[in-house]
Amino acid sequence: MSGAARPRPPVIDIRRASRTYRPSEDVIVRALDDVTLSIANGEHVAIMGSSGSGKSTLMNIIGCLDTPTAGEYRLDGIDVRHIAEDDLSDLRNRKIGFIFQSFNLVPRTSALSNVELPLAYAGLGRAERHRRAVDALQAVGMGDRMEHYPSELSGGQQQRVAVARAIVCNPSLILADEPTGNLDSHSTADVLQILDDLNDDGRTVVLITHEVDVAARARRVVRLGDGRILEDRVTAQAAA
Ligand SMILES: Nc1ncnc2c1ncn2[C@@H]1O[C@H](COP(=O)(O)OP(=O)(O)O)[C@@H](O)[C@H]1O
Ligand SMILES: [Mg+2]
Repeated sequence: MSGAARPRPPVIDIRRASRTYRPSEDVIVRALDDVTLSIANGEHVAIMGSSGSGKSTLMNIIGCLDTPTAGEYRLDGIDVRHIAEDDLSDLRNRKIGFIFQSFNLVPRTSALSNVELPLAYAGLGRAERHRRAVDALQAVGMGDRMEHYPSELSGGQQQRVAVARAIVCNPSLILADEPTGNLDSHSTADVLQILDDLNDDGRTVVLITHEVDVAARARRVVRLGDGRILEDRVTAQAAA
């Protein structure tokens, strides 16, 4: 066996994880309940479920914004429980690009500055930040709106800026929580196409949605209910 290449660990390896909240003394909310989920490098997965089913809680754990109250989570083979908060934000910044329903752009600064921000955290110099932010904005078709403030952009354009910000550090994992929830059908199609293209480039894409037609774009659909995985299946898309 010696000399054989070691298989790459899954990007996301969640084992028997739970996340409980205690909003008051005598109330326990089981937002995630004994979830085991493994996602390999390069997969395109949709996580579905009705409101309150635990989608955002799962996304926050996958994205290392939160930790399970029980069970284990490894990101790229790294057990996140044993990492200091500073190193965790560094890991997050390098490995994961986040996209949110409400875009979460910094309001009173340009599209370009918004996209440069994660590069500043990563410690890159000014010229390099500018070059990479311009590249990312051009990649999402926003090269002609770089000096605009978020308030001067449509929802679809703001989300494309947010996608540029998510990919500017070249992360291997893209996490999107209802990225098309605030968009019209035209912008929805644009953003989903960009996510498909990122996946075709080899990035792992995990997309949270409650819309069936959005989930149908993914190769695998995981359905949550009451904090548990109800279904985990490969879609027709995978056979195509
Ligand atoms: N900070 C919190 N405190 C208490 N309960 C919470 C908190 N965050 C989420 N919950 C509860 O956990 C469950 C799952 O929430 P969430 O993950 O946001 O669901 P979804 O994203 O699918 O709508 C819900 O019952 C919600 O009310
Ligand atoms: Mg949610």
